[in-house]
Amino acid sequence: MNLTGNTILITGGTSGIGRALAEAFHALGNKVIISGRRQVLLDEITAAHPGMSGLQLDLDDPDEIEVFAVRIRREFPGLNVLMNNAGVFKVEDLTCDNIDISLARQTIQTNILSVLQLTAGLLPLLRAQPRSTVLATSSGLAFVPRAAYPSYCGSKAFIHAWLQALRFQLRDTSVEVLELAPPYVQTELGGPEQASDPRAMPLAEYIAEVMALLANPNPPRGEILVKRVEGLRWAEKNGTHEKTFAALNAI
Ligand SMILES: NC(=O)c1ccc[n+]([C@@H]2O[C@H](COP(=O)([O-])OP(=O)(O)OC[C@H]3O[C@@H](n4cnc5c(N)ncnc54)[C@H](OP(=O)(O)O)[C@@H]3O)[C@@H](O)[C@H]2O)c1
Repeated sequence: MNLTGNTILITGGTSGIGRALAEAFHALGNKVIISGRRQVLLDEITAAHPGMSGLQLDLDDPDEIEVFAVRIRREFPGLNVLMNNAGVFKVEDLTCDNIDISLARQTIQTNILSVLQLTAGLLPLLRAQPRSTVLATSSGLAFVPRAAYPSYCGSKAFIHAWLQALRFQLRDTSVEVLELAPPYVQTELGGPEQASDPRAMPLAEYIAEVMALLANPNPPRGEILVKRVEGLRWAEKNGTHEKTFAALNAI
């Protein structure tokens, strides 16, 4: 994708990877719209970045998503990039007698259904642009799961497969379809301690590598893969899946 001249909507723009991407694209002069539930953060981030817009959206509410898509189409008719980045990461214990299925339901709503609904709501607009991008954030865990997060890993594997299908269906249109598959990165996704976990990739380093990859007009298979995630991405192909799975799930 072009790194400049875009109007970009980033979900999950209030923190972590989404916020850092929003700031990087804003610094390059793009029109950036961020969304998230936390109004205080939307206000704080947009105040620090003149020209950036912040729109509150709870992706767990399908009615809100519908109204939001209509609003985006009306207020930002030049939108040409949708980044479906918001996500939740929940531990699920499948060994107890009273498994809490609500965690799976919420994961599927936030990480899958909201992506499908928002993309469906904005694709007519994106298809009408001369050049546009739909991106969704999957994870290295789509390829080798961490057993404590079963629905999360499943949701990201879904996103990987769904993006492949979407990319193929849109191959003769103006819409490119990208998958951002991060490795373990220093954000608060898994709790505050993750942001300073030395085993996780520093956020600024991750974003710098991602921006360089996004500048490639034809990223291989439409996948934005930093070096650190390649071990997970290619474990199956390299015959290292079993070993990688064991290492990832060592107690
Ligand atoms: N960090 C990693 O190690 C890592 C690795 C692989 C993949 N990822 C993926 O990267 C993406 C960004 O995660 P992150 O690491 O940047 O974590 P993060 O800092 O926790 O960001 C998650 C974002 O999602 C938003 N969000 C969550 N639930 C929402 C909902 N119901 N409605 C609207 N917004 C919602 C949050 O905003 P509000 O709370 O304001 O709503 C927040 O901005 C996620 O899809 C995650 O799965 C991260």
